Amino acid sequence: MSQALSEQEIYQRVEAIMQNLNLDQKIGQMVQTERMAINPQEVKDYHIGSVLSGGGSVPGTNLPSDWVSMNDAYWQASVESQSGIPLIYGVDAIHGHNNVLGATIFPHNIGLGCMRNPNLIKQIAAVTAKEILATGVEWTFAPTLAVARNYQWGRTYESFSEEPALVASYADKFVEGLQHDFGDDSVIACLKHWVGDGGTTYGIDQGDTRISEEELRRIHIAPYLPALRAGALTVMASFNSWNGDKCHGHRYLLNDVLKEELNFKGFIISDWDGCDYLDADFRTTVALGVNAGIDMFMVSEKWREFIHHLRDHVNEGRVEMSRIDDAVRRILYVKVKYGIFEKPRPAERKWSNNKSFGSKENREVAREAVRQSLVLLKNHDGILPLKKSAKILVAGKNADDCGHQCGGFTVAWQGVSDSAEERTNVHILDGYASGQAGVQKGKIIGGTSIWKGIKQVCPEADLSLDGSKASNGNYDAGIVVIGETPYAEGMGDIRRDDNTIVEMGSMIKGLMKVLAPYGRSLVLNELHPEDLMAIKNITDQGIPAIVVLLSGRPLIIQKELEASSAFVAAWLPGSEGQGVADVLFGDYDFEGKLSFTWQKHQDENFHIGDEHYKPLFPFGFGLNYRNKA
Ligand code: GLC
Repeated sequence: MSQALSEQEIYQRVEAIMQNLNLDQKIGQMVQTERMAINPQEVKDYHIGSVLSGGGSVPGTNLPSDWVSMNDAYWQASVESQSGIPLIYGVDAIHGHNNVLGATIFPHNIGLGCMRNPNLIKQIAAVTAKEILATGVEWTFAPTLAVARNYQWGRTYESFSEEPALVASYADKFVEGLQHDFGDDSVIACLKHWVGDGGTTYGIDQGDTRISEEELRRIHIAPYLPALRAGALTVMASFNSWNGDKCHGHRYLLNDVLKEELNFKGFIISDWDGCDYLDADFRTTVALGVNAGIDMFMVSEKWREFIHHLRDHVNEGRVEMSRIDDAVRRILYVKVKYGIFEKPRPAERKWSNNKSFGSKENREVAREAVRQSLVLLKNHDGILPLKKSAKILVAGKNADDCGHQCGGFTVAWQGVSDSAEERTNVHILDGYASGQAGVQKGKIIGGTSIWKGIKQVCPEADLSLDGSKASNGNYDAGIVVIGETPYAEGMGDIRRDDNTIVEMGSMIKGLMKVLAPYGRSLVLNELHPEDLMAIKNITDQGIPAIVVLLSGRPLIIQKELEASSAFVAAWLPGSEGQGVADVLFGDYDFEGKLSFTWQKHQDENFHIGDEHYKPLFPFGFGLNYRNKA
């Protein structure tokens, strides 16, 4: 296996392959395209290096067996090509194998950051790797190492923390959990997005990070160092710009810093059509991206044109053959080191179609992560923990919706709703997730909503999503589960006004992709007024309210906090919602500590270490039962 190979032996194998490749075969290795844009025969004919699933792009009935069949066909076609180089398949498995029905869905990174538990991060990555392998996939675009510095960014929840050292403490563990020893339990990791994605002005997704090089290195590059030392094999270039210059065309950042100064031996992949925004002319962007140091290109549809243009650029001298050879050597280094040449076809690999996919054992790891990620912000008169014999009214739009508790990048790119009303029949042919075949309700197969988790331990609990039942029952307390609904990337941005886009666009050399934002305010009561209404439907009846906030970022919560007797930040906990009940009813104590500063007003943006640091709740804050204070 490759892990027995020395670096020297790996490079010898790379050279042996290189010497038999012609230009078209080399260029084919530099292409990754989307599964809907290419069939196995074309993979074979064009020597394609990789295929991916964009968020929510799934085969057949989206079960592991459908994925294994798809990957088997692509892989077989690649090894039958004249160059015979096996393809690698990439997905965004960023909080579990989140595209696939029945997968274990872990809390998003913002919650994991509150655990302060690098060893559990490594275990989460290892479990995720095995669920990825169960589908015949070899590569995940994770971990995200963003250091989010403005909560208006729609991808804040993909960041472990605003604090680089906390992100760094997870970075190597995540890579080790995924890549392991490059043996049968291993997948390829991808550090993203290089670099400065969390630092854009106004938090605009794919915007401009306007900071000094010292700040860029201290805040945004720092977490990559332990991950690179841990041997991460791939890095994804970032859509954002740095002081107006796009990262996808930034030779200093891609080549001089990452490849030379940091001695990165793997390959750099572009983000989704990321080079297209370097210039209005696609043909020009191909040369710009290759010459800047990108090695593999995530080309969602126009892969034929890409190949044609790159071949012309080489033959007409705009791209040196040495740059092509550097890119292909890096791609082959990764494939040889990962051992893909020795692995059997996907259908015959150790973990393919393994029954551990979505198993109770894997879900218990996720449940533990839910418990440790919860942060107790308020506990007036020690109302928590609740008694299991108490008469509880559960309310709030997010109380019984596994989709909302998972957030974006779950089953669909923008996430799903999976509430009782929304629940549609999903035909599970082999029934992995819950160990039974037949028809399963919902889209988050095998998950448990927060409401269901409460009902399991508290038989007297009732459900009333708007809280209106409070008027006809003598409840001891209400649990109100509120917050955001799923979003991903720019569609999660909060944009106070669109002048910011005009200003940003004028600063950036190249083009910008701007998506409709989630909202115009970070104030929860302005974003979701129904939440305070649900709380008040309970408190107006003299019933104390325990608020559980599901959100991808700290929101401005003054009104909801004042109306509550207790307040828990649950972030985006994933499929195992029963982890919330485990703590609310005292089976476990709160452990979570804020990994982000909680601002008091939306015009403030304090970060740990700032002078005059006056937030609502500071970085590291978190109450618990054992310390009554
Ligand atoms: C997206 C994201 C990136 C993801 C890629 C593939 O645009 O920026 O994080 O890995 O496309 O889905």
